[in-house]
Amino acid sequence: MPAFEDSDFGVEAQRPSTPSAEQVARLQKIVSNGSPAKHSQPTLAVPNGEKNTGAIEVPATRSSIAESEALMHSLSMSPSQVDRRGSRNSFGASLPIPRSKRQSRLSSVTAADGRPSRPGMPPVQPTRDILSSQVQDMSSVKTAAAKDMAFAFDIDGVLVHGDRLIPEGKRVLEILNGDNELGIKIPHIFLTNGSGKPEAARCAQLSKILHSPVSTEQFIQSHTPMSALAEYYETVLVVGGENYQCREVAKQYGFKDIVVPNDIVASQSTISPLKEFFTPEQRATSTPRDFSKVKINAILVFSDSRDYATDLQIIMDLLQSEDGVLGTKAQDPTSQRIPIYFSQGDLLCPTEHPQPRMSQGTFRIALEAIYKAIMGVELERVVYGKPELATYKYADEVLTSWMDTIHNEERLPKNIYMIGDNPQSDIVGGNMYGWNTCLVRTGVFQGGDNDEANPASFGVFKNVLEAVMAACRKELGGDFGFNWSDSMNPVTAGHSISAIE
Ligand code: G3P
Ligand code: MG
Repeated sequence: MPAFEDSDFGVEAQRPSTPSAEQVARLQKIVSNGSPAKHSQPTLAVPNGEKNTGAIEVPATRSSIAESEALMHSLSMSPSQVDRRGSRNSFGASLPIPRSKRQSRLSSVTAADGRPSRPGMPPVQPTRDILSSQVQDMSSVKTAAAKDMAFAFDIDGVLVHGDRLIPEGKRVLEILNGDNELGIKIPHIFLTNGSGKPEAARCAQLSKILHSPVSTEQFIQSHTPMSALAEYYETVLVVGGENYQCREVAKQYGFKDIVVPNDIVASQSTISPLKEFFTPEQRATSTPRDFSKVKINAILVFSDSRDYATDLQIIMDLLQSEDGVLGTKAQDPTSQRIPIYFSQGDLLCPTEHPQPRMSQGTFRIALEAIYKAIMGVELERVVYGKPELATYKYADEVLTSWMDTIHNEERLPKNIYMIGDNPQSDIVGGNMYGWNTCLVRTGVFQGGDNDEANPASFGVFKNVLEAVMAACRKELGGDFGFNWSDSMNPVTAGHSISAIE
């Protein structure tokens, strides 16, 4: 499996001037064991590694310090700014991801019509199931190849634009869910940097837009792997997202004590002097308490901030506090700093607006710049999401588990195709992980023959349907049929085995 290195991302390593002996020893331990030492500051190890957690700790895919200096003076709305994303995590950080099977609490599926259904399975069609299994038995070589390929779909810019369907996306899912000559489910998962609502709600929304069932068992959004952090941190500040939905997300991930910024504002209105409105509804849905008695163990930015001024102020207060207690000042705020995690690093995101809009990455850069200006040192932080290694490793876990669900074979298909619209996240991450990569022209990428900095290994396609058909033809033969027909019934239609093979 190809490794993620800074040089692979075209990012020059900017190591801290002189890493301490402790940092070097710790990094060596991560590289050799895949698990960091405990409580060693200033690196961002997750605490409590002594206990046998259900998480896998993935070393961060960057060994340099923050990049805010390079970014803060050159922020623009040009999509080319995303060239600066690449590998960004702080020196020595580790990113826990959930181990193996999906947590059952996250599993559900909603049919295209919005009704709950069997996990992972399209509506029952007994006759077709019987016929297709006969065809698959008689066409065993092609069937094995179909189970040995898989797709990982980016969502925004590939299958949908916000709530708007990209029509080819609907057809692709019909094909992969069985409308093909074998009547077989070709494995596929969804891998998005999107965020902000529970997996089940997002899958239900996608199922409706795409007119195909989308299971939470085949779905990864930017904060999904962060559920592993629930085993490490008791009390967390959860930032971002609309209407408190991220509080619910964190609850479903198993976090025990969840604080959102409005809980703090409701307790102490002067904390955010630039906040002009605190609506009765916001107040009613906030949970005020005496925060001088609360130790916040970690800050989790799950989604885009809806109130930069308030969120930045509260985060800065916590980053300088003694043990995460608001209103206190740590004696050595740099080494005592509580950890901060971001669910993804996209600077810009295509939306319904004509020009791309700022995304979570710009909020992080604003925070890094403020932190550097006030504290005089770079902010250590951890970023999940594409193109980080942890997210792709987690995708393997999910795909293996999904194979078990749909084909009763708990293994990873060999030929995986990432289909994305963003060279700087989908494609660079897929390339580094050894996947085949397909770049489509329905989203961020609007360039020439291929992206120059991060070329897609399998090619550039007009849309997702063309990419999927090309991949299927490569793996399953140039004459692979993209429709199921009852006439494929080997008994009633009188096909011979050789004709089907
Ligand atoms: O940048 C935020 C998000 O909307 C991107 O989603 O599906 O393109 O990874 P996606
Ligand atoms: Mg996209």
